Amino acid sequence: MNFSSAIPDAAVNPAELASLAAMIRAGSTLIVIESHDEPQVLTLFAELRRQLNRPLFKWTAAQGMKSVERDSALPEDLSDPAAALEYIGQAGERGLYLLMDFHPYLQDPVNVRRLRELTRVQDGVAAGTLVLVSPELKLPRELEAVARRFELMPPERAALETMVREEAARWSEQRQGAVRLCERAMEQLLGNLEGLTMKDARRLARNAIFDDGALDESDLPEVMRAKFELLNPGGVLGYEMETARFGQIAGMPRLKRWLELRSPVFTAAEPPSGLDMPRGMMLLGVQGCGKSLAARAAAGLFGVPLLHLDCGALYNRFHGESERNLRESLKAAELMAPCVLWIDEIEKGLAVSDSDGGTSRRMLGTLLTWMAEHRSRVFIAATANDISILPPELVRKGRFDEIFFVDLPDEKTRAGILAIHLQRRELKPQLFPLSEIARSTDGFSGAELEHLVVAALYAAHAESEPLTTDHLMAEIKQTRPLSVTMAEPIAELRQWAASRAVAA
Ligand SMILES: Nc1ncnc2c1ncn2[C@@H]1O[C@H](COP(=O)(O)OP(=O)(O)O)[C@@H](O)[C@H]1O
Ligand SMILES: [Mg+2]
Repeated sequence: MNFSSAIPDAAVNPAELASLAAMIRAGSTLIVIESHDEPQVLTLFAELRRQLNRPLFKWTAAQGMKSVERDSALPEDLSDPAAALEYIGQAGERGLYLLMDFHPYLQDPVNVRRLRELTRVQDGVAAGTLVLVSPELKLPRELEAVARRFELMPPERAALETMVREEAARWSEQRQGAVRLCERAMEQLLGNLEGLTMKDARRLARNAIFDDGALDESDLPEVMRAKFELLNPGGVLGYEMETARFGQIAGMPRLKRWLELRSPVFTAAEPPSGLDMPRGMMLLGVQGCGKSLAARAAAGLFGVPLLHLDCGALYNRFHGESERNLRESLKAAELMAPCVLWIDEIEKGLAVSDSDGGTSRRMLGTLLTWMAEHRSRVFIAATANDISILPPELVRKGRFDEIFFVDLPDEKTRAGILAIHLQRRELKPQLFPLSEIARSTDGFSGAELEHLVVAALYAAHAESEPLTTDHLMAEIKQTRPLSVTMAEPIAELRQWAASRAVAA
């Protein structure tokens, strides 16, 4: 960082600078910035110092008070927070004072009182402008009234690009060789870094370049994962890349086609005009028929990360936290875009009950509002098994682009499912009379067909024999599929779906 240059730093966002300058010109004397990106705050204030023509100081417990333009410590030792505050009161410089990580010292009532006096404006003047910079900061109530909070804006694309090229140049300088930069990967990397602080973005870019002196497509999954780790609020979201593929799923031809038509639009750099951005689907149907699998495969087909919103983890024993968890998860999903947000068995997480003081109702409201309003490339893939507790608002026309009904597999699909699961266990499907087995498994779900293969393999293994059709047939006889034990709810589900959903 070069503080003496008169050229604005490329990493400074003009809009951000302007709004901070306006805040200070309007007479704010205590500003709170919650961020762990100290370099970014410093860059911003260095520029601001030039614009406002006021001296800039930075205080830390380790180094005391420093003048930023002279990059030198003040003659006095001011590492003690109380001494630093006293100094500010007497200096009469109308300076900008950055107090880094001052939050632990706000426990001391004397410091709080002194801060309050310092920020008081008398006869139109105050001692200076105090800026508290901490990753997280809760102010005592006495200060909350006078403080203004300033939120750093995430760096813009141009600033990110400058930074990535700086990191590439740094590598070249150290290793005396040029970095292999794939421009396409660069474009994607910049998209991935959006929404992060400059400090975090720089760390990810540096890792991507410094591992092998190249920036190419192979770096991107790692960057996405690292970004996800930074954003994941309270561990509520799960992350999968290279997740399920439709090749592993038999049946659902309409769903596949529907997604294939939307995939290029969802991932296009510029969405084609006149086409609405795909926003989401609901898969509803009989348990064990591949809904969860298909929801995940949507991410595989789009070639984007899958974020799994765990409804169970959303509910937090601390009052009010569950809504915040949901809001933060949705925000994180927006920053991870393009991505698929998978909400499995949504009816369980959002079933509205009267016993929870309205939490689930507010959660449902939060989700519905977000679904209606967000403009990011987040595709929701929701699944549901149980329509009896599914909030009707969720399936009203227009909420999802489409509601698909995933029924028990028909004969041809059953043969396909058997083939997939035999193959997965290194058996040759063509050695088995699949259409005959499929005919004998009417009413079996996909999960039950998979289980059939597994159980028959165990039986064969116990007899030290290779798997035969007889093993499979014996297992079929012993199975009472869900479609028998749950005939009634399944009939209701079908009837419900007939007028509201499309067959997958
Ligand atoms: N159509 C299908 N094709 C291939 N495998 C299937 C299919 N349906 C179900 N399965 C198998 O059953 C398992 C459970 O399916 P799942 O997706 O969890 O069902 P659901 O979410 O509808 O209850 C899957 O992981 C898969 O192994
Ligand atoms: Mg499921």
